[in-house]
Amino acid sequence: MPKTANIEDLRQRARRRIPRFLFDFVEGGADDEFTVRANREAFGRHAFRARSLVDVSTRDLSTTLLGQRLELPLILGPVGLAGLLAPGGERLAARAAVKKGALFTLSTMSVCTIEEVAAAVPAPGWFQLYIWKDRGITRSLVERAKAAGYTALCVTVDVPDMGNRERDVRNGFTVPPRLTVANAFDLLLHLGWVLRMTRSPRATFGNFEDSKALTRRDAVSVAAYTSRQFDASITWADLQWLRELWPGPLVLKGISCAEDARRAVEHGVQALVVSNHGGRQLDGLPAALDVLPEIVDAVGGRAEVILDGGVRRGSDVVKAIALGARACMIGRPYLYGLAADGQAGVELALELFRKEIDRTLTLLGCPRLDQLDASYLRGPGEAP
Ligand code: FNR
Repeated sequence: MPKTANIEDLRQRARRRIPRFLFDFVEGGADDEFTVRANREAFGRHAFRARSLVDVSTRDLSTTLLGQRLELPLILGPVGLAGLLAPGGERLAARAAVKKGALFTLSTMSVCTIEEVAAAVPAPGWFQLYIWKDRGITRSLVERAKAAGYTALCVTVDVPDMGNRERDVRNGFTVPPRLTVANAFDLLLHLGWVLRMTRSPRATFGNFEDSKALTRRDAVSVAAYTSRQFDASITWADLQWLRELWPGPLVLKGISCAEDARRAVEHGVQALVVSNHGGRQLDGLPAALDVLPEIVDAVGGRAEVILDGGVRRGSDVVKAIALGARACMIGRPYLYGLAADGQAGVELALELFRKEIDRTLTLLGCPRLDQLDASYLRGPGEAP
C-alpha cells in the first residue's frame, strides 16, 4: 500500500473503499459544480510573502474559538450521513477531533444521534441546526443538544431548500441506500463496505423517528426528505426565537456577503462561517476565500469569522488565517479519511493538516499562527 502523502491520496483511497453512489454523494456539488471548483482554485491565486532570518525553531499552531483553546485551527464541519461511510461514523470523527485538538460539529442530519455522539467523547463540540417546519421538532433538537452539553449552536442558513445535486439524481441515491439493478455490480465490488454496514445499527438520519422508520422499500432521496421538513420561510426575525431557546454561543453558517455578515453581528451572533456549503447549494456563488476579506472587514472584530470550503492543504489554512479567519472548517477532507480508514483515517487527515500548517509557518518565517496577517500574502493581481 503506497503511503498517504496528502489529502488527495486519502481521497483516492476513499474512492476505492466505498460504492460509487456514496463517493458521489460526498464529492458532488450543485448543478455544474462551478462553485466547488472555485473554492479550490481561489487558494492558488494567493501567494506568500515569506520572511527570512526569523527564529522559527518552535511553532505554535493553536487558536481560540469562542473562548475554547484548540491545538489545531480546524473544525470538522457538520456533515449529514457521515455514518454511512463507516459504522458509527460521527462518533469516530468526534473522537478523532478530540484526539487531535480540533473541534467537531455534529449535523442535524447525522446517522448517530445527538446523545450517542455526546456519550462517545469527554466533551461534545458544536451542534449544527437546520430549522424544521415543525417548530416542535426544532425546539426538541435544540433542547437535546443543550442537555447533552454541546457548546455552541451552529445554525446553517444557506439551505432554504436542497441544492440540485445531479450526481445524486443520476445515481438514484436514497436514504437508506437501496440495492438496485444499477448499483448491484458496484455493491458486489464493495462487499467490504456492505459487510461493514451490516454492523451498523441504522443507515438513516438517527435524530428523527420518522426517518428511523424508513425501510429500504420506502427509501427517499435526501432532497425529497429535506424538502418535506426544512422551513423555507425563516428570516432574521426567527433568530430571536432561537436566542430564547439557546442561551449559549450562536454561530451562523452559510454567510456569503458583507450585508448578511453585518446583520448577523447586529443580531448578536458570536461567530459566522463564511461558506457556500462546499458548492452544494447555489452554484455560481464565488469562492468562500474570495469573499472572506469583505466579510472580515464588515464584521470589524465584533464576531469570530471561520472560513469553510475547498481547504485541502495546511497552506490553505495559513492563507485563510492571514486573511482574517480565526479557524477553517473542513468537510470532504475528513470524510475521505473516515471512508478510507474510520477513526484512524480522520486522525490521519488531521495529522496531514497539522504537519502542513507547521511546515508552512516554518518556511514562511512566522512561528505563531496568531501572528499571521495579510502582510504574509500577495493578493490576486498584486505585483510580486
Ligand atoms: C455537507 N455540508 C453540510 N453542512 C451543514 O451545515 N449541514 C449538513 O448536514 C451538511 N451535510 C454535508 C454532507 C456532505 C457529504 C458534505 C460534503 C457537506 C457542508 C459542510 O459542512 C461544509 O460546508 C463543506 O463540506 C465545506 O466544503 P469542503 O471542505 O467539503 O470543500
